Amino acid sequence: MRLAGRAAIITGSANGIGRAAAARFAAEGAAVLLADVDGAAGAEAAAAIRASGGRAEFLRTDVTEGPQVRAMVEAAVERFGRLDILFNNAGAGSFVPFDRLEPEVWDQILAVNLRAAYLCCRLALPHLRRSGHGVILNMASQSGLQGQPMNEPYCAAKAGVILLTRSLARELARENIRVNCLCPGGTDTALLRRFVATSGSADQALTGLGERVPMGRLARPEEIAAAALFLASDDASYVTGVALPVDGGATA
Ligand SMILES: NC(=O)c1ccc[n+]([C@@H]2O[C@H](COP(=O)([O-])OP(=O)(O)OC[C@H]3O[C@@H](n4cnc5c(N)ncnc54)[C@H](O)[C@@H]3O)[C@@H](O)[C@H]2O)c1
Repeated sequence: MRLAGRAAIITGSANGIGRAAAARFAAEGAAVLLADVDGAAGAEAAAAIRASGGRAEFLRTDVTEGPQVRAMVEAAVERFGRLDILFNNAGAGSFVPFDRLEPEVWDQILAVNLRAAYLCCRLALPHLRRSGHGVILNMASQSGLQGQPMNEPYCAAKAGVILLTRSLARELARENIRVNCLCPGGTDTALLRRFVATSGSADQALTGLGERVPMGRLARPEEIAAAALFLASDDASYVTGVALPVDGGATA
């Protein structure tokens, strides 16, 4: 029970990596507020955690909307009496050739991947201070470490997440609030399938992606959740300002 007595918010936790992290954090003793725009899947994910004996609530939240982020933070504190861990996991993107990249799409991708992380950090901070051992975990990506064609806004946003993380880590270190981020490689989720669907058959493209990774396969969401658990737990008590690749060697 590496998170016993802790309360966490995980955004984008109705599906994929966030859902796996919510299940894992709850299994390790945390009370988890799942927040996502996908109401049906979010409610189902929280119910599944409760059915296996964990403590979880779902709140429909669009993390790009300030008032909704405020309500999310207040709900966690109201329901669990505290907030120790904020995992800014929600994200989205798609491949668009640069000469067809409209400003609205740029703004939307920056809003969900980068601005939302800033908003959630800012509004959760007073509560993380009260925790005494607050943790912020942001979701960056291999795409924040390497350039990728047709993926400029997503790469720029994820690179921004890395330096948001490292700057905030320095600012909050004396308050014992640790701030880290994850840089997963290709992970088999709906997001990755949507990304690659633009270039033909998703199954074929996913297999090709996996084969190009040194370990010869994509990650499973649970493998990213395991790294998230490490950074969220006291096992990482002296780790802050890190952008941890979890990518099967892709950026080695
Ligand atoms: N899958 C990969 O290969 C991969 C690799 C590196 C990083 N990531 C990052 O990991 C995170 C999780 O991605 P995933 O692969 O599990 O994708 P996913 O699509 O399975 O899950 C993302 C979740 O975020 C939610 N979401 C999207 N916009 C939102 C918003 N405005 N407010 C609240 N929730 C919102 C979606 O509804 C969804 O449930 C993302 O930040 C993604 O960029 C994914």
